[in-house]
Amino acid sequence: MKKIVVLISGGGSNLEAIAKACQIGNIPASIELVISNQSNVKGLERAKKFHLMSKVIEHQNFNTREEFDQALLEQILPIEPDLVVLAGFMRILSNDFTEALNGKLINIHPSLLPDYPGLNTHKQAVENGDLMHGITVHYVNNQLDGGPIITQGALKIDPAQSEAKLISRIQKIEHAVYPKVIADIAKGYIGLQDDEVKFEAE
Ligand code: GRF
Repeated sequence: MKKIVVLISGGGSNLEAIAKACQIGNIPASIELVISNQSNVKGLERAKKFHLMSKVIEHQNFNTREEFDQALLEQILPIEPDLVVLAGFMRILSNDFTEALNGKLINIHPSLLPDYPGLNTHKQAVENGDLMHGITVHYVNNQLDGGPIITQGALKIDPAQSEAKLISRIQKIEHAVYPKVIADIAKGYIGLQDDEVKFEAE
């Protein structure tokens, strides 16, 4: 059984989708620990609902990004996880952190990268009159939302729809795609070699 650590900052709807997939055996792995950098977020309630061990490490309690990241690594590395999953984790990570977990760290980002790294992706896609919007799952390196892309999911923007509706459509795609990618990584069908994503036949 592979071991996963999930990092969150908020709602945790992706965490829930991943936990469900582990519970029903679609992902052959167990979530060993959930870490949130915010206390009192819904994601922590979701962790409890699935009986997952969780810890809060608040970034405000550290003087530098590096010290915060070191505190994260002190919790993560002893677990010897096969995969560390960023699921709405809203912190920029230091080089030391991404290097320590090279090839074992993935993120989901709500845009069709390389379009719109960073925040407010939905608003930018709509304001620019884009026809399509979507999500990207990628390995994490030291560039913000810039690591090797594993897969993407796209939808057509309906300009008449509210931003809230667009976000909910985007999240539906996330909840389908992220668990599937994690399952494929856990089964050894996807991996990172020499900074390139490798896909093996199922
Ligand atoms: C997701 O849309 C993800 O793409 C982005 O933050 C959001 C997190 O949602 N990075 P949740 O906390 O999983 O509900």
